[in-house]
Amino acid sequence: TEYETILVDRKGRVGIITLNRPKALNALNTELMTEVVAAAKAFDRDPEIGCLVVTGSEKAFAAGADIKEMQENAFPEVYLDDWLAPWDELSRLRKPVVAAVAGYALGGGCELAMLCDILIAADTAKFGQPEIKLGVIPGIGGSQRLTRAVGKAKAMELCLTGRMMGAEEAERAGLVSRIVPADELLAEAMATAETVAAMSAPAAVMMKESVNRAFETTLAEGVRFERRLFHAAFATADQKEGMAAFAEKRPAEFTNR
Ligand code: HXC
Repeated sequence: TEYETILVDRKGRVGIITLNRPKALNALNTELMTEVVAAAKAFDRDPEIGCLVVTGSEKAFAAGADIKEMQENAFPEVYLDDWLAPWDELSRLRKPVVAAVAGYALGGGCELAMLCDILIAADTAKFGQPEIKLGVIPGIGGSQRLTRAVGKAKAMELCLTGRMMGAEEAERAGLVSRIVPADELLAEAMATAETVAAMSAPAAVMMKESVNRAFETTLAEGVRFERRLFHAAFATADQKEGMAAFAEKRPAEFTNR
C-alpha cells in the first residue's frame, strides 16, 4: 500500500489499522499521525466497513509522541501549524473504533487508545501519561479523557508522577472495558469488532453519538439527544427488520438502511 508506518487490512466488515514502527515502539511521528488519520477516515467513509480496530505490537501499542522528532519544536511554529490537531479528527469518526492494546500505551499512545470507543487490553498492557518527566504535558486529550475515564484522584496522580499502571488497575479504574490474555488480544478485539459491525449501521452510529454526548453536555440535554435519535431509529428499515426477526424467532438481516 501507500503507507510507511502502518499496516492496513480488512476482514469482512472490520477495518484494521496496525501501528508499525517497531524500532521506535510505534512512537507517533508526523508521518504516522497523517497515515492513521487518513486510513481511519477512509474506512469511516467505506460503506463496506462497520467497525475499526486500531492495534500495535506485542511490546507496544505506542510509546508516545516521537520524542526525537519533537525535541527541537518551537512555540510559534507548533502554534501556527496547530501541531497535533489532525488527531482530533479521530474523535469525529462516526463508526465505532476498538483499540486493542498490548504492552506500552504511554503519552500519546495512551491518548490514542482513549480516542477509540472500546478499549480492550492484553494482560501485558501498561498505561501512563509520562509527559511530565519530559517537561511537558499531554497534547491530544490525555489530561481530559483520562480524568473523565478514571476520575480526578487517579488521573492527577498518574499525570503528575508519570507512573505506569497495569491492565488490572486500568480495568478497575474504568479505563479499559476488558482484559484478555495477550495471545488472544487480536482475536478478541476482532470478535468484538465483528459483533459491532454486524449490527445495523445507522443504529451503531446513533449509539456511538449518543454515548459520546454524555461527555459533552448536561444530563437533561443528553437524554433529549438520545430520545430524538431513538425516535429517528423508527425511520429505518433495520428497526422493522430487527423487531420482525425477534417476533419470528430468527436472526436479523440488517441492510444498513
Ligand atoms: C521516540 C522512542 C520512544 C518515543 C521509545 N523509543 N519510545 N523514540 N519517541 N516516545 C525508541 C527508543 O529511543 C529506542 O530506540 C527504541 O524505541 C526502544 O526503546 P527502549 O527505550 O530501548 O526500550 P525499553 O528499554 O524497553 O523501554 C521502553 C519504554 C521507553 C519504557 C517505553 O522506551 C520509554 O520510556 N519511552 C518513552 C515514553 C514516553 O516518555 N512517552 C511520552 C512521550 S511524550 P533506539 O534507537 O535507542 O534503539 C508524548 C506527548 C503526547 O507522548 C503528545 C501527543 C501525541
